[in-house]
Amino acid sequence: MSRSHVAEGLLPAEGDVPGSGDQPVLVVENLSVSFATPDGRVQAVRDVSFSVDGEEVLGIVGESGSGKSVTMMAVMGLLPKTATVTGSVRFRGQEILGLPEKELRRHRGNHVAMVFQDPLTSLNPVFTIGNQIAEAIRVHHDVSRREAMAKAVTLLELVGIANAGQRAHEYPHQFSGGMRQRAMIAMSISNDPDLLIADEPTTALDVTIQAQILEVLERAQAAVHSAIVLITHDLGVVAGMADRVLVMYAGRAVELGAVDDVFLHPRHPYTLGLLESLPRLDDDGQERLTPITGSPPSLLHPPAGCTFHPRCRFVRPMCGEVVPELRFVGGLGQRSACHYAEELQAVDQGRG
Ligand SMILES: Nc1ncnc2c1ncn2[C@@H]1O[C@H](COP(=O)(O)OP(=O)(O)O)[C@@H](O)[C@H]1O
Ligand SMILES: [Mg+2]
Repeated sequence: MSRSHVAEGLLPAEGDVPGSGDQPVLVVENLSVSFATPDGRVQAVRDVSFSVDGEEVLGIVGESGSGKSVTMMAVMGLLPKTATVTGSVRFRGQEILGLPEKELRRHRGNHVAMVFQDPLTSLNPVFTIGNQIAEAIRVHHDVSRREAMAKAVTLLELVGIANAGQRAHEYPHQFSGGMRQRAMIAMSISNDPDLLIADEPTTALDVTIQAQILEVLERAQAAVHSAIVLITHDLGVVAGMADRVLVMYAGRAVELGAVDDVFLHPRHPYTLGLLESLPRLDDDGQERLTPITGSPPSLLHPPAGCTFHPRCRFVRPMCGEVVPELRFVGGLGQRSACHYAEELQAVDQGRG
């Protein structure tokens, strides 16, 4: 099976994608999202900036509730009406925030696609898998039902569904969890997106299936030359697949850089804590992990200064007063939002 052949068959609209893969696909600047709730305003995302280059894989990691999904819902234009959004989200130069619903739908159909943790929420139980993918293709391409179905089958083959021609006629409940996620990935690339957002795509699956699904994502990416934003709470997933990583904590970006840099010499105490809480083997062969003490703050009343300071073992008085900026740390390619990032150098030797 030739990947380029599959991709060519799918890409009659490639001409509308301008420029080289070098220019960023996505630029997010000073994004803040809050929600009005009966208890008050939840500050889900605060002043987050990052970009994603063509064909790059950016991992976004952080504990549950850190604002990862809300950030990418803003990029999709899928936030509920109760959300207040400020800042800028530009997709290939076009501002997404404030676009009318009709244009947002076009943005989603043509440029971005999303794979969720649970494919059952996105697949319609009353239509066959093949039909759903074919319909997704027909919304944006002027092709016959037959042609669309043939492409759907090719896509299902690409994501590793055996006997795709027959299985295309089955319903979502006839697929296993892993197969459904494969089908979702097939659907997500059916309109040749520039950006694929995968939000905890393997979290609901067996460990044995997880690696397979990540491989399928990579194969899908190669077929359509898209960028990927991979959201996960699992650093292992990021290590295996991402080029760069954005670490989020309580709605803020706390560290951003190449995966190797961030993992080998973290420059934010929260990133360090995440790395230390990965299970690892001691000298005597015992599995050991050191969880971060305490729990994330309420986003109704986040702490002043650095949001991580109540849990930080390096905390000093300034941390509770001044919000640290995400800044380049001397001599390194990565950025950290810690007032004392340079001092984490002393921790590098003790790790690993
Ligand atoms: N529609 C909403 N209304 C109110 N609060 C929300 C809504 N959606 C998300 N939140 C809150 O925003 C915060 C960030 O959520 P989320 O982005 O889903 O976290 P993550 O994906 O990192 O686990 C959480 O505190 C969550 O409760
Ligand atoms: Mg989430």
